[in-house]
Amino acid sequence: MTTLKAVRGTRDLLPPETELWNHVEAIARRVFSRYNFGEIRTPVFEDTSLFARGVGEETDIVSKEMYTWEDRARAQSEKAQSLTLRPENTAGVVRAYIEHKLGETGLLQKLYSIGPQFRRERPQKGRYRQFWQIGAEVIGPPSAGSESPLRDAEVLQMLAAYLDELGIEGWRLEISSVGSAADRARYTAALREALAPVKHRMCEDNQRRAETNPLRVLDSKDENDQEIINALPNIADYLDEDSKAHFAAVLAALDRCGVRYHINPRLVRGLDYYTRTTFEFTHGGLSPQRASSPGAPILGAQNALLGGGRYDGLSEALGGPKAPGIGFAIGEDRLILTLQSQQQQSAPLADAFIAPLSADLNPAALELARELRRAGLRIELGDGAFRLKKSFEIANKLARKIVLLGEDELASGMLTVKDFASGEQVKVARGELANALGRVESVEIG
Ligand code: HAM
Repeated sequence: MTTLKAVRGTRDLLPPETELWNHVEAIARRVFSRYNFGEIRTPVFEDTSLFARGVGEETDIVSKEMYTWEDRARAQSEKAQSLTLRPENTAGVVRAYIEHKLGETGLLQKLYSIGPQFRRERPQKGRYRQFWQIGAEVIGPPSAGSESPLRDAEVLQMLAAYLDELGIEGWRLEISSVGSAADRARYTAALREALAPVKHRMCEDNQRRAETNPLRVLDSKDENDQEIINALPNIADYLDEDSKAHFAAVLAALDRCGVRYHINPRLVRGLDYYTRTTFEFTHGGLSPQRASSPGAPILGAQNALLGGGRYDGLSEALGGPKAPGIGFAIGEDRLILTLQSQQQQSAPLADAFIAPLSADLNPAALELARELRRAGLRIELGDGAFRLKKSFEIANKLARKIVLLGEDELASGMLTVKDFASGEQVKVARGELANALGRVESVEIG
């Protein structure tokens, strides 16, 4: 019988890793509640047309990546309904906002959610078919201040506070404005025009995008096409006065509260509902930065820890009232990967763990440790009260090698050294020990 495995692009999360997931979620709940957000839980599947209308038919997500099936609403019903596992959560939250008439409260709705999303993408490190998002949305009638640039700045400040509180180092906020729907239409037309004479020199994907969705050309990773892409018109030149003023007010508020940002006019988000402010928080540690465009980084998708922006027309596109909003979704899987890689950096392995084989040998072990530390080595000292098995277990977690110190070793001056990476065990003369331990074999870090 073939053994069953988790489906490609999905995976099990096991202890002790799940502790880190719980920690990341607990900090999110704590920080978001300080900003007066409440939790919303929407269904994992929705009517397919919600995503077609909300996210956009032309996007990769809707055209290629959704898990969709025909389902009968009632067991006996002849009429099938097309359902889809949610590829993102904003459309579902806005549907719930409309369905429960939350706009009638006249207040801003500040909602956060944590849960799995599903996209049929090519799996790789940091990219899965079932992945988790920690997201939040601020949405409400314009009279509640939902269009104010202050909301954008507050959401960005909350994200900065969250990443800092979590201890994520080296994040980078990339921000842009894609303007109003009208600005975007003019910009798209300009891109189409600029691409027309050169698109035949571009890769097949970009030739197609130049026709169907020219904005997506800006997001292309194709090395050969970068020169053409760098020469394309800039969105900043197509914003009307209102959009420009809105963007300037967001930036001024960020400056005032010390949130660092980088304006990236090439920032393209993969969903169609965005208006005005769009942003991503990237982290260079997940895959190498692109050397080809140092000034204007167009980072690979896996470098995006999170993404978001304003969606002032989404509620109306879904048949609801006017309800501008702004939100984000953090890729929780990527957050965890980043934290894990940082932990490896901040807790390097000791060069050796010294294991005295009886409590009587503790003083001699301390002396040996001092000798080696004086030679500049990083040493972890065990205890003769530990059983040998326990010493090995601890040493394996803390150090690259273990040095056994028994009566025989002490008398003969020949110490047993085991290297955990290679599994090699050798006898080393005490006088040679510092040298032998100092040799750093390349350690593969998974
Ligand atoms: P998104 O950029 O499609 O935006 O996704 C947000 C984040 O989810 C990404 O930056 C990434 O960290 C993570 N992510 C996306 N796809 C995958 C994947 N296949 N595997 C692992 N992580 C992934 C949205 O989903 C919008 N709903 C965000 C938003 C909320 N905009 C406004 N409100």
